[in-house]
Amino acid sequence: MNPRSRAVFCALGLTTLAFSQTNPDQPSRGAVLYSAQCAVCHGSEGDADTVVARFLRPRPTAFRDGSFKLVSTTNGVPTEEDLVQTLRRGMPGSTMMSWDWLPESDLRELAREVGRLAVRGRAAALQDTALVAGRPLTLEEATQRAARELTPGPAVDVGRAAGGDAGEGKRLFTVHCAACHGADGRGLAQIRQWQQESTYPWPRDLTLGVLRGGGSDHDLALRIRAGMPGAHMPPTPLSSEQTADLVAHIKSLLPPDANERHLQRRQTVPVARLEEAPHGERDEELAHVPAMRLPLAPLWWRDEACQETWVRAAHDGTDLVLRLDWSDATRDDRARPDAAMGDGAAIQFARSADTPLLAMGTLELPVNVWRWHAYDPHETAGMTDVLERSLHQGLDVPMTDWKPRPRTESIEMSGVASAASAIGGGLPVRVTTRWRDGRWTATFRRALRARDSHEVDLQSGPVLIAIAIWDGSIDPHPGSKSITTWHVLDLRP
Ligand code: HEC
Ligand code: HEC
Repeated sequence: MNPRSRAVFCALGLTTLAFSQTNPDQPSRGAVLYSAQCAVCHGSEGDADTVVARFLRPRPTAFRDGSFKLVSTTNGVPTEEDLVQTLRRGMPGSTMMSWDWLPESDLRELAREVGRLAVRGRAAALQDTALVAGRPLTLEEATQRAARELTPGPAVDVGRAAGGDAGEGKRLFTVHCAACHGADGRGLAQIRQWQQESTYPWPRDLTLGVLRGGGSDHDLALRIRAGMPGAHMPPTPLSSEQTADLVAHIKSLLPPDANERHLQRRQTVPVARLEEAPHGERDEELAHVPAMRLPLAPLWWRDEACQETWVRAAHDGTDLVLRLDWSDATRDDRARPDAAMGDGAAIQFARSADTPLLAMGTLELPVNVWRWHAYDPHETAGMTDVLERSLHQGLDVPMTDWKPRPRTESIEMSGVASAASAIGGGLPVRVTTRWRDGRWTATFRRALRARDSHEVDLQSGPVLIAIAIWDGSIDPHPGSKSITTWHVLDLRP
């Protein structure tokens, strides 16, 4: 930004959303962080048109459109504090994780970068419109107007949010909310069905307790009074007393742990030190190790997708054993003609103290992935080939002996596109699995010591891990799974 336009922006008082003082030749800290951590989903220009974004529902927000869900202002523009809050908490029910492991100053820088992208996007749109109308705008004029339009308005007065009357709240809900959320708060089935496959957000089933913006009285009152502009949920103008009544009613619909259940916040997974690390087959020993619950976010949201896994970890100074345990009503280890993946699980390890990109690392910070699939999709692809030939050429291929075999591997990955060229194979990881009564357990075991530089070395203390779970019966393609954010595996050799 040149000095003149900077003066203009300062004059407009744009300290909240739009700009931080930066040297135009030097990318700001916010821009650097954004391109390292956020661009993979939200796009380097904030248009959310990325390869990863296509696999995600809800889709990552296109900041260029300047439309947000979690706001506290009367004009629907988020303040810097709103954005920082969102970054701290993440948006449960989506792949927008919590970033609260970053220092506060970085969160502010990121919030400003989001603001800058919104202004830039709006300015470009204004220029386009002006051009069509035959009254072209210079970039500077357009940027000024965009910044003015995207200046947060006055704060919504939430008033008293607590201590309302749930009975009266129920009546108000029928009047103001049931048209979208249904009288029972479960979201109108018709709308849900119609919108399930589209990118349009459907009115939330409040009984599921998935809250993008928090479940405190204040948070809920804010959602009611400010609406969720990015989700087409309108603000409802109610008195402070009525808002409190509605909040009381909503809380009666929400499950008790709604505020915490889906939070994708970094946690520490303890690792027990045992005399001898249990072998996967011998269940009882690991069963005594306390299990840690980690929430999962389905890349493609469906209410029935896997949303949590339990982790148990132990080591004996030589080997590490990690057991994942999750619910899955159907055992999908049968071959499927489309060669999509069956059930599976993977643990991704960072190889340095820095946090790699969650989407399978980068060239600079590659990750090591231990992966198990109930059957090898490549093998199945070969089999469908054989089947076709036997059908069309009358070959008599004995298929009765063929059983899908599970596939286990440890691979190095350096980005989403590296899946095909991942370095790995071999058998440094052993996995034993069991499916019983609608639950899988998968027990991964490997030596603490890495065999080579492509593998994570586990001898020197805590490492970052992230987990993925595939459910073959509902995940429509290999990219579709449920994931955790990065957590600390508290290894103390
Ligand atoms: C794995 C993909 C992914 C990554 C990486 C990611 N986000 Fe998001 N983000 C999302 C998704 C998906 C949504 C939309 C959630 C929704 O609409 O309910 C979102 C929404 C948002 C929103 C919108 C909030 C609102 O009020 O509507 C902001 C702001 C945001 N992300 C900032 C960031 C920043 C900053 C980073 C990097 C530090 C980041 N995101 C990294 C997936 C991602
Ligand atoms: C025009 C339709 C519409 C109306 C009317 C409406 N909502 Fe919503 N509401 C939505 C949509 C759509 C979402 C989901 C947004 C998303 O996917 O992120 C939502 C989400 C919510 C959430 C979840 C907030 C969060 O943090 O994720 C709450 C709570 C809520 N609505 C309460 C209400 C209440 C109370 C009323 C009545 C005062 C109401 N809504 C009226 C469409 C509506």
